[in-house]
Amino acid sequence: MINKFPKGFLWGAATSAHQVEGGLNNDWIQWEKDNAERIAKRADKKWEQWQQDKFPEMFNVENYISGRACDQYNRYEEDFDLAKSGGHNAHRFSIEWSRIEPKEGEFDEEEIEHYRKVLLALRERGIEPFVTLWHWPNPVWIGEKGAWGNKETVKYFHRYAERVFNEYKDLVTFWMPLNEPNTEVSLGYMFGNQPPGIKSKIAANTAFKNLMQVQKDIYKIAKSVSPDFQIGCSHFMFDIKAYKNLPWNIAAAKAMDYFANRRFFQAFNDSCDFFGIQYYQPFHVNFKFGGNFFGLFENKKVIEKQSDLGWQIFPEGIYHVLKKAAKNGKPIYITENGLADSTDKYRSEFIKEHLKYVQKAIADGVDIRGYFHWSLIDNFEFVEMRGFWPRFGLIEIDYKTLERKPRPSFYVYKEIIENLPR
Ligand code: BGC
Repeated sequence: MINKFPKGFLWGAATSAHQVEGGLNNDWIQWEKDNAERIAKRADKKWEQWQQDKFPEMFNVENYISGRACDQYNRYEEDFDLAKSGGHNAHRFSIEWSRIEPKEGEFDEEEIEHYRKVLLALRERGIEPFVTLWHWPNPVWIGEKGAWGNKETVKYFHRYAERVFNEYKDLVTFWMPLNEPNTEVSLGYMFGNQPPGIKSKIAANTAFKNLMQVQKDIYKIAKSVSPDFQIGCSHFMFDIKAYKNLPWNIAAAKAMDYFANRRFFQAFNDSCDFFGIQYYQPFHVNFKFGGNFFGLFENKKVIEKQSDLGWQIFPEGIYHVLKKAAKNGKPIYITENGLADSTDKYRSEFIKEHLKYVQKAIADGVDIRGYFHWSLIDNFEFVEMRGFWPRFGLIEIDYKTLERKPRPSFYVYKEIIENLPR
């Protein structure tokens, strides 16, 4: 079954700068410093007992400070050698705005050169780069001006993006200007549990509008630099269901689908060439007073198999979200899919099963052109500031020595990729 992927299908893994590079100075770094202690102290409120027992490092302040992370800034060649040895022919990563433009209007030539070397290192290994321009953190000066709550950020981003497009136009075809704008808007501006830590529906709405505007503008700018560029937009999708089909859960699931998906696709459909779909788990919408979703709903656990983060493992869900995304008529790349699994107990099966459902969607006629596992290496899991303990890598990182060690699932993925007819 697994050998029926289209010719030219891209296979790889994904990372983002803040999560792997180390040595950064951006608006999230400051937030980490200000909040690490608070987050470590209340880990017992956030995580279940089995998680606290299995990952006691969640009580350490250092868990929440990205610091040198995986030091990929200096070790990218080693990581790309590993990706190549795993059969990957594509790789998704992000360029860090705060390195390129550390001060307003001042571009850092050395850092521009650095990412040129990164891109060349991929090209030399026959790996197609998928480049994200913004995977959430901003330069400090942008943070000080109000980040995406400030309309001016749209203009600042134009200047940064235009420069990057021109610098690397000979090396990159696939660009994803924004990573999951919806996620950062809801977690950073509405629920306030990641930077900039704002809790306001109005702020969230403004940030969404600004990000939508930026994608529209960037699409035009990109095409003016090179009509050959392929511009994507990445979108996080839960497989949303109403728990037990109860009428109030059905209504809530519909509302959630509207805000999380339909509104997004409507807003972004005309400003991209492809969608980057990012799927992790289902969401069984269930009414519950005090639930972690608007204080009224929870994601009911109905599937026993869970990742270390307690996320339900439901491979069929990727089929549902792909079918839904396909209605927009754009080609699809799966730009993230993975799980936190420190002992690699489920990862191999996770990959195989999800790919079966990807294949089922392809067989139904959905235009899917690539799959990027999240993640190539363990990294700093900065969503809701969870820190280092969740292990998403095909490759394990020893954070003391920074040694890289491919997990068994790395080889399973390699075998899948290499045994496909080309
Ligand atoms: C984000 C990644 C993150 C992953 C796992 C995605 O929403 O883009 O940065 O590590 O989810 O939580």
